[in-house]
Amino acid sequence: MQPIAFRSHRFGAASRRRVRACLGFIATALTASSSSAATIQAPLGYLTAHGPRAATILDLTYGTLAISCLVSVIIAGLLVWAILRRRPDRDRTDPKALAVARTGGGLPWIYVGVGLSTVALFGAAAWTMVVLRAVATPATTPTLTVEITGKQWWWEVRYLDEDHARTFTTANEIHIPVGVPVAFRLKSEDVIHSFWVPALHGKTDVIPGQTNTTWLQADRPGVYRGQCTEYCGKQHAHMGFVVVAESSEAFARWYQNQLAPAPPPAGDLAEAQKTFAAKCGACHAVRGSLVGGRLGPDLSHLKSRRTLAAGTLPNTPGHLGAWIADPQHFKPGAKMPRLDISGPELARVQTYLATLD
Ligand code: CUA
Repeated sequence: MQPIAFRSHRFGAASRRRVRACLGFIATALTASSSSAATIQAPLGYLTAHGPRAATILDLTYGTLAISCLVSVIIAGLLVWAILRRRPDRDRTDPKALAVARTGGGLPWIYVGVGLSTVALFGAAAWTMVVLRAVATPATTPTLTVEITGKQWWWEVRYLDEDHARTFTTANEIHIPVGVPVAFRLKSEDVIHSFWVPALHGKTDVIPGQTNTTWLQADRPGVYRGQCTEYCGKQHAHMGFVVVAESSEAFARWYQNQLAPAPPPAGDLAEAQKTFAAKCGACHAVRGSLVGGRLGPDLSHLKSRRTLAAGTLPNTPGHLGAWIADPQHFKPGAKMPRLDISGPELARVQTYLATLD
């Protein structure tokens, strides 16, 4: 078996070569992060909202945060006041008097405390119910429905349409038109996951054996980071995805491109496709080709996606090669095994994947 470039970094004897490899990797990582910084407008964070659903929830978040802070400040203030309050000297010299001493009568404090807590808690509960009702359904009926299936540890994304010819499957990257609500049907094939794009909507659990529904809407074009937020095993943290919100024209172009079948492999590409089918075809599918595995992500138009392995790596030729050569290095425990693949075979697989744009 011929060693591939990625493996020589790890096992090369000369430390100088390792340092050079490290520097190269850092340079690649920096380039990748700076290029993604230009496109990713909403990293994972729930303190900014970019859609009506998230905005309604964010008001409640800040409201309950303010109430909690106020309660903490009041309690801390009273506690400090109680500690600093000096008792009359008589109490200190006669400890027996402490247990029965009723100097001020503290009962009103308890009435006031219970009263205030009740008002604050019922207020927060009522506000929560109002918000739940407000975000339950969008203002207009969605015309687009996307079916998401959570799997350990990636997301299958299926665009549904009454016309079967306009239905297709992709993975880990969801495109939506901006300014309109989009409906989601959430399913799981293994354990409980949770679907969350903090800038666009609240969390919805993804539960095996049932279909949960949710919706989201983006007000501005952008790339919004999403994440599984229910612990689902070893690679839970590497179960990310992105939502790409774009103008209706750009979305229509993307949709049309996704519907296009893979280019027919001709000449040298036929050999590359044969290697791909032999090495990857048991698990992966490419629409419009004879490769139709269902275990792993559908790789149709893979090149057009931003990330690999559910948001784990940027989708660059270097990262793709390293990922195929040794997925367990990047995502230990993932279902994709380390393939017994030679350098030339890997090059052919990459040549074929590079045509899927
Ligand atoms: Cu899927 Cu955590």
